[in-house]
Amino acid sequence: MSILQASLSKTMRNHNPLPLILTLTLSLTLTLSFLPHKTSAQLRHNYYANICPNVENIVKAAVTAKFQQTFVTVPATLRLFFHDCFVEGCDASIIIASTSTNKAEKDHSDNLSLAGDGFDTVIKAKAAVDAVPQCQNKVSCADILAIATRDVIALAGGPKYEVELGRLDGLSSMAVSVTGRLPDPSFNLNKLTRMFAKHGLNQADMIALSAAHTLGFSHCNRFANRIYNFRRPRWTADPTLNRTYVDQLRGMCPRHVDARVAINMDPITPRLFDNQYFKNLQRGMGLFNSDQVLHADLRSRPTVDLWAENSKAFEKAFVDAITKLGRVGVKTGSRGNIRRDCGVLN
Ligand code: HEM
Ligand SMILES: *[C@@H]1O[C@H](CO)[C@@H](O)[C@H](O)[C@H]1NC(C)=O
Ligand SMILES: *[C@@H]1O[C@H](CO)[C@@H](O)[C@H](O)[C@H]1NC(C)=O
Repeated sequence: MSILQASLSKTMRNHNPLPLILTLTLSLTLTLSFLPHKTSAQLRHNYYANICPNVENIVKAAVTAKFQQTFVTVPATLRLFFHDCFVEGCDASIIIASTSTNKAEKDHSDNLSLAGDGFDTVIKAKAAVDAVPQCQNKVSCADILAIATRDVIALAGGPKYEVELGRLDGLSSMAVSVTGRLPDPSFNLNKLTRMFAKHGLNQADMIALSAAHTLGFSHCNRFANRIYNFRRPRWTADPTLNRTYVDQLRGMCPRHVDARVAINMDPITPRLFDNQYFKNLQRGMGLFNSDQVLHADLRSRPTVDLWAENSKAFEKAFVDAITKLGRVGVKTGSRGNIRRDCGVLN
């Protein structure tokens, strides 16, 4: 405001309206571009510039070391971020361990077998950050998870982006709050769209984020109903599945297979963050109903077809969508704190 007033009074004095309009436009543009996006609360790119200036490099080094031990780091961290943000906001509440008096979010039956490597990634990165005296207990676990998620996407060949920071860690974590908050693989387009809309994510955001299934594993029981007993007789499969793919899936997931068996969700490029997911959908190779429906439903098919052809357009949409995901239910002020141990409430 003071810049605006100063330049206004200066231009008023020389009675020339053109500089006045120019200055006004410039000042307004500057002022507006510095205002944070309404839904992102206090989130910004350089949040830790004075608090812990090297935080992003420290996290990246820890995540890269973990990635070199196991590729599972990538899908495990990405999925952890999604589940954290959809239950009580991006506040690292998913990382809290249960105690004798509280069953935490991660132990809800819908925790859908979150791989331990995601939790481990955050805990290792937090230890690396806290090892720097200036940074000790200054960076939230929620922000560490957001940075780590950005880093694993890049490590798998996905788009690079600047991550918004400034989240606080949540003050509670209860298994009951998970119920009904996560999408089910049986969901149709309306159900998926409605659930994402509750978090300010539109249908395009939902489709872009679903492409995270270009990486990682699914246990056989999550899609067994699509390859066996879909209808009578006993051996029918979901007709929207590619026949060749059904045979492959039955080979990897025989009936009554050990519950621990898991398969790649993208059979073509399982370790690349790319737009293969959309190409698979075009061939009837979406593993879950919630994947295949994005191509089967004519309302979302044009988007799937576009991103199958144009990976740059997909990457841009994904970065927009994951940035919006990172703003969901962000806690600031007295509603959060900086957790000393990511797995334990202070
Ligand atoms: C659109 C609705 C979604 C549904 C119904 C869904 C459901 C599932 C299911 C059932 C699994 C398999 C879990 C297992 O058997 O271990 C899975 C895995 C996975 N999901 Fe989703 N998901 C959805 C959206 C997302 C989003 C938005 C992301 C991230 C942005 C995501 C990331 C992942 C990843 C990376 C894996 C692999 C995990 C691993 O290998 O450890 N999913 N998802
Ligand atoms: C998920 O929940 C099941 C039981 O509901 C539990 O056995 C398992 O340890 C949980 N997974 C994680 C990573 O906490
Ligand atoms: C089924 O998958 C195979 C192998 O990817 C592909 O060549 C074929 O075109 C697919 N069929 C249909 C109907 O999309």
